[in-house]
Amino acid sequence: MSNGLVYAVTSFAAIGGFCFGYDTGVISGVLSMENFVGYMTEGQTAFTSLQSSTIVSTLLAGCFVGALLSGPFSERIGRKRTILVGCIIFVIGAIVQTASIGYTMICVGRPFAGVGIGMLSMVVPLYQSELAPKSIRGRLISLQQFAITIGIMVSFWINYATNVHLTGTATWRVPLGLQCVPAIILGFGTMFLPYSPRWLLQQGREQEALQVLAKLHGNGDRNHPYVIEEYHEICEQIALEKAIQIHSYGELLRGTIRRRVFLGVLIQIFQQLTGINAIMYYAPLIFEASGISGSNSQLLATGINGVVNVLATIPAILWVDRWGRRWTLISGAIVMGFSMLIAGIVLGVCAKTVYLPNGDKSIDISGNQAASYVAIVMIYLFVAGFAYSWGPCGWIYPAEIFPLRIRSKATSVTTAANWLFNFVVGEIVPIMLVRITYGTFIFFGACCAIMGVCVFFFFPETKGKSLEEMEFIFGEREYHQWEMATSEKYYH
Ligand code: GLC
Repeated sequence: MSNGLVYAVTSFAAIGGFCFGYDTGVISGVLSMENFVGYMTEGQTAFTSLQSSTIVSTLLAGCFVGALLSGPFSERIGRKRTILVGCIIFVIGAIVQTASIGYTMICVGRPFAGVGIGMLSMVVPLYQSELAPKSIRGRLISLQQFAITIGIMVSFWINYATNVHLTGTATWRVPLGLQCVPAIILGFGTMFLPYSPRWLLQQGREQEALQVLAKLHGNGDRNHPYVIEEYHEICEQIALEKAIQIHSYGELLRGTIRRRVFLGVLIQIFQQLTGINAIMYYAPLIFEASGISGSNSQLLATGINGVVNVLATIPAILWVDRWGRRWTLISGAIVMGFSMLIAGIVLGVCAKTVYLPNGDKSIDISGNQAASYVAIVMIYLFVAGFAYSWGPCGWIYPAEIFPLRIRSKATSVTTAANWLFNFVVGEIVPIMLVRITYGTFIFFGACCAIMGVCVFFFFPETKGKSLEEMEFIFGEREYHQWEMATSEKYYH
């Protein structure tokens, strides 16, 4: 029933995830390039912490705004044109950053790029979920997370190669400028992407919707049983939603939708509270705390971290639709919680605490090679645990649980929650590292344990259900009754 075209289209849309990942990974390297620091600070050798955190966080603020904007955009102009708008805004931001003639200009370019990323981070999984047949929806949305991890990895290695192989005062512009390339490819490519059939039906464009469904799920045959079933399910859902007038932001706080909004927001906040971006943004620092000395070795460890993140996402693409969301999330929380707690305990027991003159603390594990290895292995295990579970499922779950008329508004709110907590974690981790040192790991380990328990008690399984069936999984109506009625209607 599913054909190569669905894979091709959803993989292409995942370039939005690549831009997201590239931007997440690129800045730490650029911030450490001497020529960038010298240029931006007019000759100083280091940024103040306020300057560097402003450069990092202005992007995240833009992402938050972009995620919220993408709701109304994707509803009015459709998912695919919102992808185009996201790309255009991102490219403008990337050009401003690349052409920056000073600190202020870079701080203007970052939020622009952020708005583009925020829009793409919401609309790409939404678009993928609406194109996917239910049996492989998890897999297709995982492609977005896969592209994010590839983007992060590529940016790590481009930073490294730029630093090592290029000379001159403007080399920092190279990694920043290169981010335009995927966004331009995706932007042009949207011309060839189909519209979301669910959005088309919502606009009353039945024939076009049927045509897209037939192309994607019926090898061109409009009378294919799966196409007919899906078409009617969507129509029925739209009729039901029209009858009960679900279309305002206020609806997000009512009835069964409120529960879904709560779970969608929670899963996105939890995804950030795993602490993954503590590792992604501050990897060299974290590896230093774990006993790797010298910037080259730290960069290498960071590069390997990017590779682990990509490779460990592959099992999710292959099996998340078989394992189900709940099992994947719970097992991931166990792996991450275990590895963070062990890393924290090893560093706490085996490392010496060093008190710096300004009252900050750091840890020194140089005397204990074995403990240092254990800590590093635990960090990689943590990243792998995240990559196959909360990385993809954090994006899959919110993209599949909402009814059509509210879907874009709801996912824009859940995505904005993700960016807000991305920002919060990015801001607090450097402070935690110098105040509670190894306690940072224990804190995130404890968060992972709490998350696993919450998923066990509160999150229903969604694998293999059509987007329209979510109404029954989260609602009060008897799911089985409806399922029987539907199959009778279309097959008999
Ligand atoms: C997820 C998170 C993102 C993180 C990435 C790491 O996509 O949303 O914040 O940087 O995974 O792979």
